Amino acid sequence: MKEKLHIIPHNHQVDAQDRARLNGHQGKTIWFVGLSGSGKSTLASELERKLHEQGKRTYILDGDNIRAGLNADLDFSDEARKENIRRISEVAKLMVDAGLIVLTAFITPFEEERRRVKELIGESNYIEVFVNCPLEECEKRDVKGLYAKARRGEISNFTGISSPFEEPESPHIKIPTHQMSVEEGVNKLMVYLEQEL
Ligand code: ADX
Repeated sequence: MKEKLHIIPHNHQVDAQDRARLNGHQGKTIWFVGLSGSGKSTLASELERKLHEQGKRTYILDGDNIRAGLNADLDFSDEARKENIRRISEVAKLMVDAGLIVLTAFITPFEEERRRVKELIGESNYIEVFVNCPLEECEKRDVKGLYAKARRGEISNFTGISSPFEEPESPHIKIPTHQMSVEEGVNKLMVYLEQEL
């Protein structure tokens, strides 16, 4: 059994509400879910630009970037994906506490993990966006050439091909990128976020 660690959290003098007052808005997490190539990063990037223009404090956490650094030790097994999402959700929680609007772009293939993220970050701070572009379309786009490699068996555990993607059960909003342009998608998000931010 693990030895008990004697850790007693400290409450500091400036809290999230103080920071929110200074920023003029609350911290939030906008969590994009979807297959590789569905458009999560593109949407997050365009949305961030618009929010930034409105004077909002933002930050993007993106799968390919985080996996090059903080999570460079993790592969694509189910367990490693869970750990990937666990660490990112802890980082996002800190950033929300710091007062930022955090936009995350990770496949997040398991419903159980999405539930955990929502619980950790807090339901009132969490907005789930399902970028519901079908596999056939993502595979046709194959922006990074990874689907072709996965089909040839050169990449194992590839989401949608040899690793599961569970459809989100209760996203706040869906952006079908096969049916709308990036601009239309971002506008739909901005309309939704007007009441939320
Ligand atoms: S997640 O499943 O743990 O949420 P994450 O979003 O961090 O995945 O990483 C997905 C990105 O890693 C993809 O967009 C793709 O570029 C790359 N990638 C490399 N190998 C795989 C794989 N086996 N399955 C899915 N994505 C992969």
